[in-house]
Amino acid sequence: MRLRHVVSSLDLTRDDYFRIFELADKFSNVKKLNYLSGKVVSLAFFEPSTRTAQSFHTAAIKLGADVIGFASEESTSIAKGENLADTIRMLNNYSNCIVMRHKFDGAALFASEISDIPIINAGDGKHEHPTQALIDLYTIYKVFGEIDGRTFGLLGDLKYARTVNSLLRALTRFKPKKVFLISPSQLKVRREILDGLNYPVIETENPYDVIQDIDVLYVTRIQKERFVDEVEYEKVKESYVVDLKLVNMMKKDGIILHPLPRVTEIDRKVDKTTNAKYFYQASLAVPLRMALFYEVLGERKDD
Ligand code: CP
Repeated sequence: MRLRHVVSSLDLTRDDYFRIFELADKFSNVKKLNYLSGKVVSLAFFEPSTRTAQSFHTAAIKLGADVIGFASEESTSIAKGENLADTIRMLNNYSNCIVMRHKFDGAALFASEISDIPIINAGDGKHEHPTQALIDLYTIYKVFGEIDGRTFGLLGDLKYARTVNSLLRALTRFKPKKVFLISPSQLKVRREILDGLNYPVIETENPYDVIQDIDVLYVTRIQKERFVDEVEYEKVKESYVVDLKLVNMMKKDGIILHPLPRVTEIDRKVDKTTNAKYFYQASLAVPLRMALFYEVLGERKDD
């Protein structure tokens, strides 16, 4: 069945994940196709982005779609007082799908409730970033050949990082052996996310206590832009640095992922280790997002 809106990781079934991964494999190394010829994709970025915006743009071009959109709220008529609902209605007039990033939690869900065309959530506040979780899991699938049975360590800002919420929720579709949640006490995973998980989680503040067990170390930036009090940010901004000392204690085939952008939480010297897979992870965004566009917009026999 065709996917419609992708607002949360929970909008996808286990079968959806694997079907998208297999499709992404087929789209790897493709130069250009015409599967979405005649379709228009809106990239509605109300918040900054490098990877998400550019990889969605590239994915659309490679499938033959045309692309419209904007990269900041200031460049839209919202700056003149127009509301979000009317902006979404206008993009419904001009395009076949809206990829949307917004600073407010719930903005993508709001858009999906008034949009006749699919909404893909490219990050809403501290809520979710489901297509990043798709990329994260696709990377694990490519490296290990499977996702079930792995031990994860999610490290850093687990309170405000939307990629963490989406990954934790996506993992409910799989069978992780265990997930260590490694954060300062102020940045623990929020209760409403924890309550929805169906696998073992262990909270800790010290990565050295658990690093030996971890197959996938998922590092996040402290999300400065989400703090309401700068003093609170200053207290936790340098909580962790993944350095060679920590990486040398990992399993030989353990991997390090990061949704990026990275600031100071991974030492540059780690980039050269075989464990570092975050740039490879970012490179998979194009075939993965091609697969997602094809799922949402591609012609089907039953259309
Ligand atoms: N991973 C991610 O969302 O990066 P950008 O903010 O650059 O899009």
